[in-house]
Amino acid sequence: MTTRTSRDVLGRGLRVLGRAIREQPRIFAVAVTGSVLFGLLVIAGAYVVGGVVGEVVVPSIAAGRIEWGALAFAAALLLGISLLRVVAIFGRRLGAGYMQFRLQAAYRRRVTRRYLDLPLSWHHRHATGTLLSNANSDVEAAWYPIAPLPFAVGTVVMLVAAIVSLFVTDWVLALVGLAIFPALFMLNVVYSRRMAPRQARAQRIRAEVSAIAHESFDGALVVKTMGREAQETARFAARAGELRDALIAVGRLRGVFDPMLETLPSLGTLAVLVVGAVRLQQGAITVTELVSVAFLFTVLAFPVRAIGWVLAELPRSVAGWDRVQQVLRATGEMPYGDATLPGDRTTPATLEFDDVWFGYEPAEEHSPGTEVLGEVSFTVPAGRTVALVGPTGSGKSTIAALALRLVDPRAGTVRVDGVDVRQLTLDSLTGTAALVAQVPFVFDDTVRANITLDRPGIDDTAVWAALRLAEADGFVAALPDGLDTMVGERGTSLSGGQRQRLTLARALAGRPRLLVLDDATSAVDPRVEAAILAALRGGGDGPAATILVVAYRRATIALADEVVYVEQGRVVARGPHDTLLATVPGYADLVTAYEQAEAERERERIHTDEEAIR
Ligand SMILES: Nc1ncnc2c1ncn2[C@@H]1O[C@H](COP(=O)(O)OP(=O)(O)OP(=O)(O)O)[C@@H](O)[C@H]1O
Ligand SMILES: [Mg+2]
Repeated sequence: MTTRTSRDVLGRGLRVLGRAIREQPRIFAVAVTGSVLFGLLVIAGAYVVGGVVGEVVVPSIAAGRIEWGALAFAAALLLGISLLRVVAIFGRRLGAGYMQFRLQAAYRRRVTRRYLDLPLSWHHRHATGTLLSNANSDVEAAWYPIAPLPFAVGTVVMLVAAIVSLFVTDWVLALVGLAIFPALFMLNVVYSRRMAPRQARAQRIRAEVSAIAHESFDGALVVKTMGREAQETARFAARAGELRDALIAVGRLRGVFDPMLETLPSLGTLAVLVVGAVRLQQGAITVTELVSVAFLFTVLAFPVRAIGWVLAELPRSVAGWDRVQQVLRATGEMPYGDATLPGDRTTPATLEFDDVWFGYEPAEEHSPGTEVLGEVSFTVPAGRTVALVGPTGSGKSTIAALALRLVDPRAGTVRVDGVDVRQLTLDSLTGTAALVAQVPFVFDDTVRANITLDRPGIDDTAVWAALRLAEADGFVAALPDGLDTMVGERGTSLSGGQRQRLTLARALAGRPRLLVLDDATSAVDPRVEAAILAALRGGGDGPAATILVVAYRRATIALADEVVYVEQGRVVARGPHDTLLATVPGYADLVTAYEQAEAERERERIHTDEEAIR
C-alpha cells in the first residue's frame, strides 16, 4: 500500500515536472545545459588532477627536480576548467531560478484570475483562508522541485559519463563504482522518503500556527473584551510547540542521514585506493588513472544530493499541484449572453422577478441543498421604489443577489428591462444595476479610489456628486486629505455609518439605472437615511433610479411606493405600507417591534447624552 502510493507520488510528481518543462522549455534547456556542462567538467577536473599527479608530480619526485613548464600547463588547464564551471553554475542557477519564479508567477495569476471568474456560489463553498493558501503556498510548493531539477538532471548525465569513463579506465574499478553509485542513489531515495512526511507535517502545522495567529489578531476585539487573552495565548503556544517538535524531527533525520551521505563516497574512495593499489601492482592501471578515479569519487558526492532534493520535494509538489488544479479545473462560471441594454443612463430600468426558485448549493456534495426561495414574483416598475421587508433569514439578501445575477435561479426568471439577466453581457449588467451590500466592503486605498474603482468617466465632480447624494460629502470634506485620505484596511479609520455611505456613493458614482440597497443604511441615523432615499427618488439633482431597498425603519418604508413582504423565502404580501400594516399580522409585528427597539435605543442615547452633559 505505502509503496504503491509512494510510487504513485513519484509518477505523478514526474508528470508535474514534465508539465513545468513543457511550459518553460527554453529556460529549462539553458539550465540543464549548464548543469550537464558542470557534471562533465567535474569528471574532466578529476582526470586533470590525476594527470597532474601521475605525469608531473610523480616524475618530478623521481627525477628530483620540478618540470615548471608542465606544471604551468596543468595549472592553466585546472584554472580554465574552474572558470568554465563558474559559467556552467551561473547558467544552471539563473535558469532554475527564472523557471521556478516564472512558473510561480504564472500559476498565481491563473489561480487568482480563476477566483474572479468563478461564481459566488463557488466562493460560498470555499473558505478565504484556503483560497489564500491555494494562491500562495500551494503554488509555491508545486514548483519547489524546479530549483534543484536541472542540477539533478545534469547529475544523472554526469553519473552515466562517470561510469563510462570508469569502464574505459579499468573494469575492476568500474565495478567499485557500480556498487557505490547505486548505494548513494538509494540512500538519497530512502532519505527523501523519510523526510517527505516529516516536512509535510511541519508545513501543515506551520499553516495552522499562522491561521491561529491571524484569527486572534483579526478577532482582537473579541479576544480582549471577552478576556480570552490567556486561552488564545495557550492555543497558540500549543501549536507553536508542535511546530518546534516537527522541525526538530526534521533536523534529527538530517543529522542521521547527512553524515551517511558524506561517508559513503569516502568509503568509495577507500575501496578505490585498496583495489587500485592491487591493480597498479598488477600493471593494469597507471598512477594517473588511480588518482583520477579516487579523486572522482570525492567530488561526485555533492551533485548526487541534488537528486535527493528533487525526490524530497515531490510529495509536497504533488499535493500543492492537486490543490491548484482543483481551482483551475473548477467549473460553474456564469456564461454571459450577448444582449445589451440601452447605454443611456438617464432612464430608470425595470426589475422583474418571475416565479423565481433558489437554493444554495450544499457545502458537501450529495447532501441535498435547502430551498431558500420559492415562487418569488414581484415587479419594480421604472423609477419606482420597492421596499423589501422580512424577518432575518427570510431571503432578502438572496433576492438582492439574484437581482444583480451574483447567483442564478434554480427555476424562474429575473428580468431587467424585460430581458432575462442571463442573456445580458457582463458590461450591460454592471453598467445598469448596482448593489450596495449588507456588509460594506472598503479597500485599503484612498476615498477617491474606493469610489471610482478605476471605472472610466468618473471624475472628481462625479465623485463629489455621488458623495453628496449619499450624504457623505460632509465627512469626506472634513477628512485631513479629503478625497486623497487613506481609509485603512477594510476602512478601519471610518465609522460603520461612514463606511456604508462610502459604499453607497461608490454605487451611485456609476449612475446605475437600477439600485439595490441591501440594508445599506442601517448604521446611518434615521434622519440621514430618509434624506438619502428622498434624494435617490429624484428629489435631488441626480436622475431617478429604480430602487429595491431592504428596509426595517418605518420612515424608510414609508418612502417606498410598494412593500414586498417575505417570510421564509416566500412573498407573503405586497402592497402599500398602510394596507400591509392593517392586514398582515406578521408584518405589523415586525415593523412595530423594530420601531420600539429603535425608540428604546434613541431614548438611551439621549439619556446618556444628558448624563454626559451633567
Ligand atoms: N452562502 C450561503 N450558503 C448557504 N445558505 C445560505 C447562504 N447565505 C444565506 N443562506 C441561507 O439562506 C437563507 C436566506 O438568507 P438571506 O441572507 O437571504 O436572509 P436575509 O433575509 O437577508 O437575512 P438578514 O435580514 O439577516 O440579512 C437563510 O436561511 C440563510 O441561512
Ligand atoms: Mg440579509
